[in-house]
Amino acid sequence: MTQTENKPLVSDTPLVPIEKIVSLCKRRGFVYPNSEIYGGVAGIYDFGPLGVELRNNIRRFWWWSMVQTHDNVVGIEGANITHPRVWEASGHVENFVDRLVDCKQCKQRFRVDHLPAENLEQHKCPNCSGELMAEPRVFNLLMETYLGVVEGDRMKTYLRGEACQNIYLDYDNVLKSSRMQIPFGICQIGKAYRNEVTPGNFLFRQREFEQWDLQFFVHPNNMEQWFEYWKQYRFDWYKSIIKHKDRLRMRAHDTDELAHYAKQAFDVEYRTILGWQEWEGIHWRQDWDLSRHAQFSGQDLGYTDPLTKEHYTPWIVETSGGVDRTFLNLLLDAYEEEPDPAGKEPRTVLHLHPWLAPVKVAVFPLQKNKEELITSAKSIHSNLQRFMVSQYDEIGNIGRRYRRQDEIGTPYCVTIDFQTLDDQTVTVRERDQMSQIRIPINELLMYLLERVTWK
Ligand code: GAP
Repeated sequence: MTQTENKPLVSDTPLVPIEKIVSLCKRRGFVYPNSEIYGGVAGIYDFGPLGVELRNNIRRFWWWSMVQTHDNVVGIEGANITHPRVWEASGHVENFVDRLVDCKQCKQRFRVDHLPAENLEQHKCPNCSGELMAEPRVFNLLMETYLGVVEGDRMKTYLRGEACQNIYLDYDNVLKSSRMQIPFGICQIGKAYRNEVTPGNFLFRQREFEQWDLQFFVHPNNMEQWFEYWKQYRFDWYKSIIKHKDRLRMRAHDTDELAHYAKQAFDVEYRTILGWQEWEGIHWRQDWDLSRHAQFSGQDLGYTDPLTKEHYTPWIVETSGGVDRTFLNLLLDAYEEEPDPAGKEPRTVLHLHPWLAPVKVAVFPLQKNKEELITSAKSIHSNLQRFMVSQYDEIGNIGRRYRRQDEIGTPYCVTIDFQTLDDQTVTVRERDQMSQIRIPINELLMYLLERVTWK
């Protein structure tokens, strides 16, 4: 990455308050509260023009590194609604619950697994020290929906509580319709829905969110080896896209934290103002999913090894992360308010990896009242647009235009000035170092592609 070549960037910067990111996201069109004109809906958000670009880049980079660069991995895209039996077989109808206790005094509600042990033992509210209800109440997180229009004939089902279920449902179809053999994996990026009782912290805990999953099917004897492979691969993947490498760690789940389907689990965690929090889970799902779906559907979901003819139920390594949590963590990781050496307003800058930045380049004519400069700048901009997201801007002085781009993480700004008209060169200014170089227009595209395209 060119941006880390000279000075250390944000290694010592303080943890960023979530409110700064919420405000930037609204102001610059990354994220809006859903149904805002009606007062909003807790835990549901819409993505604006820059948010969509950033999300698409994050998704594409994941897909490229998980599917495109692995011969033994293919992708699917499943529906958000499935047969209701899926959620009985998966264990979610029975086990996908939060246990909550209310405070008798201040009426606040707490998740039992989030309460400090001392408060739980003494039934003491962490908010007002009042008395907590003795018996927790149990809430299922699945979101119900109904298929059909005729009252009485409608079938109750669920929006998917975890996106990965489609992969188990389609596993046999993929085996039969592709040339995959075990060990192999299926990837998917898709929405999941949970009636979270305590949504909050912006995109961190939502009710509608997006997950990326790999389900990797292996012979039980090879489980350990593949579990280790994917654990390391996913950890390195996250490390490659953040600036603060020391804020990333891998943590093993204690046995009492394990989800109902997991025999072992590790979380990739990232440290923000919220503390160390899960970013992605790597789960040893064993044969839980295929065995349960085989049992509930009556279908044989086993695999016959073409060489040995051994018939067995494959075991599964799962890597399951959140697109929205990635989006939020990357902004928290990248955001900096850099003091101005001349004592003016600090420079707000997003040190996003150039691969992921929503806008790759901005093109400016030095002055907006010089027709030749504008014509040249517009022509360079429209050429670049065919290959990457480029913005044209002629409003305000150059310093202000740089600031606008820094705030949204644009890694390069190109200025067309009077020298351009003489020698066909332009100034390229880099976001993090604020360094500038002059290069010929006919080298500009390659210069930028080299730096903004992943490889
Ligand atoms: N299939 C396994 C599974 O769903 P999970 O740990 O519940 O595991 C995987 O979810 C990832 O999905 C999490 O690591 C997190 O990044 C994201 N995620 C889970 N619940 C979320 C929520 N309410 N809002 C935003 N992201 C969420």
